[in-house]
Amino acid sequence: MRIWKTVTATVAVSLVVVGVTAAGVIYSGAYNVAATSEHWPITRWALQTTVHRSVARQAADIDAPQLGSEAQLLAGATNFDTMCSGCHAPPGGRQSVAARSMYPRPPELTHAAEEKSASEIFWVIKHGIKASGMPAWGASHGDEDLWAMTAFVEQLPDMSAADYRQMLQTAKVRGIGHGTREHHDESGASHGGKHSAGEADAHQGEDAHTHG
Ligand code: HEC
Repeated sequence: MRIWKTVTATVAVSLVVVGVTAAGVIYSGAYNVAATSEHWPITRWALQTTVHRSVARQAADIDAPQLGSEAQLLAGATNFDTMCSGCHAPPGGRQSVAARSMYPRPPELTHAAEEKSASEIFWVIKHGIKASGMPAWGASHGDEDLWAMTAFVEQLPDMSAADYRQMLQTAKVRGIGHGTREHHDESGASHGGKHSAGEADAHQGEDAHTHG
């Protein structure tokens, strides 16, 4: 039985040492939180794998509806243009200066649909990703809008810049898309177009894009 006492004592002392060291690192300010300071490869691997596995698990029970009708894609395109393109770059275009300076940098979504299922993309758009800068759009948008954006992201692998411009133009002519619906903002603030307060962040990015 003495062996167990030794084992228990060693584990307890080790835990205390690890805890004290961790607290020391946290309180000393030694960890550099700068967005310009890259993660160690092992930290990056751990974070990316955690996100990847978590999204797969959280989205496992979501059944994607039929996606890809023209009206849905046009609605998705206008919403993407207003809410997402500053960070994720429009097809054939560049991210905003703000997005290029973020860490993690928002990925271009050209190949997202080849790596993720529609349910996973929907889940990410709806719930966002903690401590990454990816917002949770489910707080301000209903599932119908979120599936429309998912349908649009699913088409990105085959979409040219010209296709994208054409979609936005068609949507505009038909009056489809952002600013034409009423349920966007739960706070009750009106949503009269591109410059509503609820999306100020996305627009800061767009402004930076325009000037940079
Ligand atoms: C403020 C910047 C920002 C905005 C705006 C934004 N995103 Fe993101 N998004 C991110 C970041 C950062 C990540 C990467 C998160 C991570 O590290 O896993 C991300 C990840 C994603 C992913 C997962 C990509 C992949 O391959 O794993 C999808 C899909 C996505 N965003 C869709 C959208 C859509 C659709 C919109 C608009 C409704 C949007 N995002 C708006 C910053 C943003």
